[in-house]
Amino acid sequence: MSRNQQKRHIHNPDYTKDVFNKVSRTYDIVNLISSCGLANLLRKLMISRLGKDTHPQQTLDLLCGMGETWKPIIKYAPETQITAVDFSDEMIAGARRRNARHYNNRVGIIEENVLDSGLKEHSFDLVVCAFGLKSFDNEQIEILAKLTNRVLKPGGQLVFIEMSLPKNLLVKTIFLWHVRYLVPFLGSFSGNRKAFGMLAKYTVSYRDSINALSIFSQQGFQLQYDSYILGSATGFHGRKPM
Ligand SMILES: C[S@@+](CC[C@H](N)C(=O)[O-])C[C@H]1O[C@@H](n2cnc3c(N)ncnc32)[C@H](O)[C@@H]1O
Repeated sequence: MSRNQQKRHIHNPDYTKDVFNKVSRTYDIVNLISSCGLANLLRKLMISRLGKDTHPQQTLDLLCGMGETWKPIIKYAPETQITAVDFSDEMIAGARRRNARHYNNRVGIIEENVLDSGLKEHSFDLVVCAFGLKSFDNEQIEILAKLTNRVLKPGGQLVFIEMSLPKNLLVKTIFLWHVRYLVPFLGSFSGNRKAFGMLAKYTVSYRDSINALSIFSQQGFQLQYDSYILGSATGFHGRKPM
């Protein structure tokens, strides 16, 4: 397979779904141990970028995984109605368990491919997306940006975050060791070393959020670039103009 064919292949939605179905059983625990709790801190930091004086009634958690972002969302907007979307049936099963155990089933969960979404126009005040961008290529990021634009109400907020390659050589070396070796090693205990290795491949090919920021900006959003913890995560936040 040529390099280009391989790139297309790893961004194929069926392939991505299979990767996330395979990592789902231990995703939370591997995430927690391997990041020393940093992933949860990053989700909190992402939400802290949002305007303090706003009270979103309807929030969309794009690429929700197993609902890891709901806690900081609800802390920020206790009354908000969350709709969470993902296409991995195994991740969704985890999200449903979390919804029943901890959230009294208050979250509306939709199983669908966001690249072919039936979400209604102008139906959300806030769109949140944590660690979901890396498995998309530019064309797919553009579809996601158009979807975000379609579903957000005018004046609505958006915030995205993704793991990224730090600029500092020492930090980058530690980071790469972490994603290339530690995460797959931890994943091997559940028999899914290869699938966890794919998360490293996605992160390295994503690099940082500069490209995604530019694609989202083309939709007319007013955005600011965000860099977290020495550049180990990047993203952007802002609003859809009124
Ligand atoms: C790294 S997980 C992030 C989960 C969660 N947001 C978090 O904070 O950990 C990325 C999620 O995106 C989902 N995903 C990837 N491509 C998708 C698509 N085209 N449509 C719907 N979900 C998708 C995967 O199933 C996976 O659960």
